Amino acid sequence: MHITKQAALKTYNTFGLDIKASELSICSDVESLVSTIDHLIYNPQPHLVLGGGSNLLFSSDYEGLIIHPTIGGIEVINEDAQNVWIEVGAGVEWDQLVEHCVNNNWFGIENLSYIPGNVGASPVQNIGAYGVEVKDCIESVKGIYLSDSKPFSLNNSDCHFEYRNSIFKKELKNKTVIVSVVFKLQKSGELNLSYGPVKAEFDKKNDASIMALRNTIIEIRKSKLPEPEEYGNAGSFFKNPIIDKATFDALIDKNPSIPSYKLNSDSFKIPAGWLIDQAGWKGKSIGGAAVHKDQALVLINKGNALPSDIIQLSNNIIENIGEKYNIKLEPEVNII
Ligand code: EPU
Repeated sequence: MHITKQAALKTYNTFGLDIKASELSICSDVESLVSTIDHLIYNPQPHLVLGGGSNLLFSSDYEGLIIHPTIGGIEVINEDAQNVWIEVGAGVEWDQLVEHCVNNNWFGIENLSYIPGNVGASPVQNIGAYGVEVKDCIESVKGIYLSDSKPFSLNNSDCHFEYRNSIFKKELKNKTVIVSVVFKLQKSGELNLSYGPVKAEFDKKNDASIMALRNTIIEIRKSKLPEPEEYGNAGSFFKNPIIDKATFDALIDKNPSIPSYKLNSDSFKIPAGWLIDQAGWKGKSIGGAAVHKDQALVLINKGNALPSDIIQLSNNIIENIGEKYNIKLEPEVNII
């Protein structure tokens, strides 16, 4: 175990904010993770497990210990005629895993191509895109409790997965470090083309392979979402709000063209990007922070943003959407 004091975090958060943590421990194996947890037990202090840093916003310098697992490995642990089970280290980059699975013709996570971040973070917020959520392929999540360094293994139902949520953001928030995730994938299967714009682009390719679907999704994401190298960002900044039927009826009455997704008879998901876009926020900025010009759900760092610029912009959007549509937006990124 090696602990860096006053560590620079600029390259550890995709917003590219130039901030520091009082302590940073990079753990490439379970042993260094356990000694870091022991250090934490003997030196109690605020702590944070940091994966790819692609879904968080630091509001200031971090006074505490940051644990960054870089544990690698993609290992087949079981297979039968239909399925393959793989155990993947928390530090594996998410899209490298997707690429590996697509190269092997293993079906399940191809729609989640090109999502930034690490494997260990994927169950925490149950990453999702284009009709698929990672929970659909997770068999179990293995990790260590921060209170006593004891290992745990939670199966899929124990993880209480919901839209962009799981037990790791609720009861177990800040209480564990994920070491590996076991995925169950299919050796043959049908591609999920339930998301209209993906199907339209895919059909143009005249190639029904899983690789062609991955490439379609990468092209769509590249055309809509800014690369962190270009403008620091953390993907969707807000969750798509879920509203009840009475709120939905009142909304559609005034805004007949609003896109929506019916979840059940009393709940409807509304694209936050549409609301923010209609309210005229695209391209607007505060200090070094701005709403992306093409995708209103993404807040960007134009290069010199302070954490407070991004937080101010987010607060102003939340207030404005509340007044205009009577909907309370919630950040999807984890604000630290
Ligand atoms: N829209 C606008 N203006 C905008 C953005 C969107 O009018 O500036 C409209 C679109 O025209 C469309 C609707 O809003 O009718 C939905 O937009 P889109 O399909 O682009 O998806 P999204 O709701 O903006 C969600 C996820 C993304 C995921 C895509 C694709 C959340 C918070 N976001 O975005 O996830 O890639 O669907 O499935 O659920 C992420 O979580 O970081 C992320 C990028």
